[in-house]
Amino acid sequence: MVRYDIKCLRCGEKLPVKTWVWRHDRDNGTLSITYRGLEKHELSELLLKEYMDIRRYINILPVSLKYLNIAPIGFTPIINKKFRGVSVFFKLDYLLPSGSFKDRGALVSIAKAKELRIKRIIEDSSGNAGVAFSLYSLLYNIEANIFIPADAPSGKKALLKSLNARLHEVQGSREEVNRAAIDFEHRSRGAYVGHWWNPFFIEGVKTLAYEIHEQLGLDKVDSIIVPTSSGSLLLGVFKGIMELKSMGEISNIPKLIAVQASGYARLCYELGYGMGAEKSKLADGLRIIEPPRIGEMVLAIRETKGTCYHVTDEEVTEGLKKLWSMGFLVEPTSAVVYAALKKAISEKVVEKGENIVIILTGSGAKMLDKVLSIIRT
Ligand SMILES: Cc1ncc(COP(=O)(O)O)c(C=O)c1O
Ligand SMILES: [Zn+2]
Repeated sequence: MVRYDIKCLRCGEKLPVKTWVWRHDRDNGTLSITYRGLEKHELSELLLKEYMDIRRYINILPVSLKYLNIAPIGFTPIINKKFRGVSVFFKLDYLLPSGSFKDRGALVSIAKAKELRIKRIIEDSSGNAGVAFSLYSLLYNIEANIFIPADAPSGKKALLKSLNARLHEVQGSREEVNRAAIDFEHRSRGAYVGHWWNPFFIEGVKTLAYEIHEQLGLDKVDSIIVPTSSGSLLLGVFKGIMELKSMGEISNIPKLIAVQASGYARLCYELGYGMGAEKSKLADGLRIIEPPRIGEMVLAIRETKGTCYHVTDEEVTEGLKKLWSMGFLVEPTSAVVYAALKKAISEKVVEKGENIVIILTGSGAKMLDKVLSIIRT
């Protein structure tokens, strides 16, 4: 692995790499992992070419190979369809083992926790990240404490229990769930791995950008649509792109088009596009209004000349029906991308003849009752 540093993005201080850190205690700064001299390398010399999974990228991940051997996931398929003159490449990350893209971040975080001999982790999640963390904790024999809003879908709760997670249900907003999880870290002496903060999570998610590059060539991708809430997906994809750029592997930077749920669209709001009046009930994975990395998220959109859309439940319903009819069995949260695609084309953010990647983030199989009740309306 290329040697790396963990830096506080608020004050620039370097933090230790041999203990678990998820934020800079002194100033509450978010952390970022950077690889020393990455710009002097070429991608091809860093790849472990014998693997067609996440281990392929071990030299640009902050964990040793030995700890990824237990669950070497990755390389989800891409399916190409034409839509209103645009070439759309659907990246099927909902096919990862726990049913969402969160597997990438959870696996790298749990592998790192194992390397650091951590026995108990704490995570707060509206569902998918909790399921992913529980799955890899089970595989790595680590105790998973998952803090979840009491009103999360019952299918997701049942799944968490079946994966041996210790479930902590919290009444209140997503922000209150987050505070309860962080409080528990002090009481339980476990490691807080929450994906809103944890820099190792972003490292795992960035492999999405590397895969898209190897599968399609990022130089010919004009835009990428990403459902966005805490920003781990947006920032992971952005980090992967910027690393590839720094290695001279790509010259083009695709526009990142974030999609948020109406009423919870903090990133859109910061960019001047408003929050959306209606509060979405269907996009239950996108209900965060105080993402700690909001400054980094704004930068990712600005630096890629991207944009941000918020979508209503009516649009989620239309998107879910459409995606299922195309054979993509995604969950409502993931279905926000369809409205974003339509808006991007009608506003000419995406032009005819362009190539656009859509990340399909979560599987509908985990909440079949909910999905079917929407599809039948
Ligand atoms: C299916 C799905 N897509 C997208 C997201 C948004 O990801 P992030 O919170 O990293 O922005 C989530 C978050 O829970 C999700 O569950
Ligand atoms: Zn700091």
